[in-house]
Formats: sequence, structure tokens, C-alpha cells
Amino acid sequence: MMTTASSDTKTAKYMSVATSRSGLTAIKQLKSDPLSYYMGNRADYGDYVRIKSLPGFDFYTLTYPTAVEHVLQTHQKNYRKPDVFLKPTILLFGNGIFTSEGDFWMKQRRLSQPAFHRNHIGAMANIIVECVEKMLARWDAKPDGSQIDLQHEMVHLTLSVAGRTLFSADLTDHATDVGNAVREAFEVLNHKMNNYPFVFPLWVPTRDNKQFKHAKGILDSVITKIILERRKNSQPHHDFLGMLMDARDEETGRGMSDEQLKDEVLTLLVAGHDTVAASLAWTWIMLSKHPHVRAQLHDELKSVLDGCNPQLADTERLTYTKMIFDETLRLYPPAWGQPRQSIDEDVIDGYYLPKNAFISLNQYTTHRHPEFWERPEEFDPERFTPEKIKSRPRFSYFPFGGGARVCIGQNLALLEAQLAIATIAQRYQIDLMPGQEIVPDPTFTLIPRGLVSATLKRR
Ligand code: HEM
Repeated sequence: MMTTASSDTKTAKYMSVATSRSGLTAIKQLKSDPLSYYMGNRADYGDYVRIKSLPGFDFYTLTYPTAVEHVLQTHQKNYRKPDVFLKPTILLFGNGIFTSEGDFWMKQRRLSQPAFHRNHIGAMANIIVECVEKMLARWDAKPDGSQIDLQHEMVHLTLSVAGRTLFSADLTDHATDVGNAVREAFEVLNHKMNNYPFVFPLWVPTRDNKQFKHAKGILDSVITKIILERRKNSQPHHDFLGMLMDARDEETGRGMSDEQLKDEVLTLLVAGHDTVAASLAWTWIMLSKHPHVRAQLHDELKSVLDGCNPQLADTERLTYTKMIFDETLRLYPPAWGQPRQSIDEDVIDGYYLPKNAFISLNQYTTHRHPEFWERPEEFDPERFTPEKIKSRPRFSYFPFGGGARVCIGQNLALLEAQLAIATIAQRYQIDLMPGQEIVPDPTFTLIPRGLVSATLKRR
């Protein structure tokens, strides 16, 4: 739907051109350090910027909340996911809900939505706490003060939660393989996106393609196992997989093909664990670096839970726990950028945008915008009191995206994080080993780079 009148396009302003950050400089910086590139671009050229990267290929960075709202929500029908993003990601996710577009996407989204309804998610609270308990039992068996890799532990935890809540499957034995396969696949996808369209098709046996196929093979075999085991089991399941398997096309009455089912399950498995693992790892990093916040968290846990494990009903009162997670998602949004492409020309906040323009929305930069966030680099959960949230524009904070394609797993992710933080923090103090420089790795999901060594101290 084009909602801008052509008279608007005639009077619209042109966006500033990032002269010192265009051409080869842009390409090099975007490949080596995209977070600094986008932050610097906003600081130097503002919120509406045109970047000339390759001859004939411009792209636009929009960081002002009203512009984000325009693209993701109010004028979302004029924007699609671009091929530079879709073509590589389809290699991993196939035609699942994350990568499909148009009517097909809408059908899949309608089909999946009920599984993520608040009422349905609530029933998952006990399963989440059980998964955390299982991890803590493993930690309990270690001597006090043992060392762990935070990212690795959180991937294990969130994979077991995703397996149990979405597919009623125990993925504990596959956690390391799946976690590694996801990272290897993301690395190759990132390379393909950065070099699109100058990339070899998957059938060419380059090192990258071999790495990707190996990773995808591991993921496919885990997914196939989940589906086969379910088919063997005739009992009804009210989880996400059950809903997908029971779904029937309104016109043909046919169920989903095996291929489609595999794509949806893989999408959910990957999207459902990797983002939550990253944000939980960042949460422990932030808590270790901010002892006063951690002390306040412990006060809340003492007064609300007093040593008991949290239940669904407790989450309403675990407000500070939630604020800590919100603030972590502000500074380290796992989905740190969202690419889009205009279908028709448009005018955004008075600025002209041509047809087919490639747009980069950037959570990382908007979440650190000095107009909306005082001392933006500082970790301060108090920013997320209800009053403070109300005082800011809606799209100054969008870790889960927005509009029709807003994250389908948002409620599940928030519930999982709140319960995991509360359950773990009551039992363990997690401290970063000294002397580590922890920096974000934006290869795909924003994870801490490399190993994050921490010690576990029983409380
Ligand atoms: C902290 C955790 C999470 C974050 C920050 C996050 C972030 C996002 C964002 C920003 C999008 C929009 C992408 C776009 O429009 O370009 C998205 C979409 C999606 N997310 Fe999440 N996500 C999280 C957890 C989850 C979980 C737990 C699940 C599933 C169990 C999930 C499944 C999906 C799916 C399927 C989509 C595609 C939806 C569609 O296009 O209709 N996510 N997520």
C-alpha cells in the first residue's frame, strides 16, 4: 500500500550522503566492524542517511524511532525483507515463517500464532523451571568456584527449553552439536550476505559451502529425529509441533508436507534458542559487572520468592528482574539490525526514499540514541520503570521488531528469561574471570565474542 501522495515526494527533502563513509570504506568497515560503522554513521550524518557503497547500489540507514515505526508498522506493506538477506538465510531456514513472504507467510503465521498465545505460553513456565533445575543439578555436582563458559551453558539451557516447550523433545544430548552447527552456519550466511550477489552457489564445493552443508546436515538430522519420534507416538500433543502436524489447508484439506514441517521446526529451533541464549549470557555479564544491580536483584528475589523456585504467578512481581533483562536487550539486542527494502517510493519523516531502496534499521544504534537514552552506554535497569517507558517513543526500543512481523516468540522469550534469571540467581553468583575483554560479535546474533569464562559460587 502506497500511502504517500506524489506531491509529498516532490517536496520531500533528500537524506544526507555519508561522503566519508561510502564506497570501499563503507564495505570494508561494514565487514570488519559493523556496529562501530552504524554508530559512527549516525553520529556523523544523523538519523536519515544515504550510503553509496557499490556503483549503482545505495542503501539507507534510518535510526530515528518515527522512521523505524514508519517502516515496521505504519507503512509496513511498502517494505519487504530484501534478497541480500533472504537468499542466504533461505539456505538455512528454507521456506519457514522467518524467511517466507506474502500470502504464504501469512498462512504460516496464522497457523503458528495460537501456539504462542499468552495463555498457552503460561503453561510452559513449569517446564522452563524444570530445564533450569536440570542445569543447576549439573552445576551442583561441580566443586564450588568451578569455571564455566557462559555462552555455552546458556545455549545448552535454551536448547533444552526450546526442545521441551516447542516439540516436547529432550535435546540435551544434541546441545553441543546443535549449538556448534548453528554458529558454523551463521558464519557462512554472514559471509554470503556481506558478499551478495558475488557468492558461489551451494553446489560449488568451496570451504564455506562445505562448512555450511556439514552444519545444515547436523541440524536436519536432529529435526528429522524429532519429527519421526513424534510420528511414532500416537498420543495427542498440545505443543507447537502438534499444532503444525494437525493443521489442515482450508481448501485442500491436506496437511503440511514433510519438507515444510522440517523448515518450520528448524526455524523455531534456531530462532527460539540462539537469541535467548545470547541475551542471558549478556545478562550474567552485566550483573557481574554491576554488583549494586545484582544486590538489588537478590533483594527482590528474597522478598518475592524467599528461596522457592519461581512460578508463573510470581513473574508479575519480579519486576526488577524483568527490568534487568529489558536493559540488557537494549544494550545488546541479539537481533541487532533489521534489513528491509522499499517496494514503492516513499516519504519518511519528510525524507524521500526511492523505490527498491535497501534500508538498514539498527536496534543497536537506536537503542543508544542520545536523544532518548541519557548516558546511553551505561547499564541502568531503572530506565525501564513503567513511567520511563511511557515517556519514550514506542520505537526507541524494539528488540523484538514490530508490526506484523514482530517476533512470534516474544512472550516465550521474556517468560523464559525472567524465570531463568530468578531461578539461577537465587542459587548461584556468577562472576566473570578477571582480565577478559568482552566485546560483542555481530556475525549474526549479537553474542559475546569467544569464550566467556565465569566462576560459579553457590549462594
Ligand atoms: C530475546 C529473544 C529474542 C529476540 C531478541 C528476538 C528478536 C526477533 C526479531 C527482531 C524479529 C523480527 C525480524 C524481522 O522482522 O526482520 C524476530 C522474528 C521471529 N522470531 Fe524472535 N526473538 C527472540 C526470541 C524468539 C523465540 C523464543 C522464538 C520462538 C520460540 C522466536 C521466533 C521468531 C520467529 C519465528 C520470527 C519470524 C516471525 C515472522 O516473520 O512472522 N524468537 N525475532
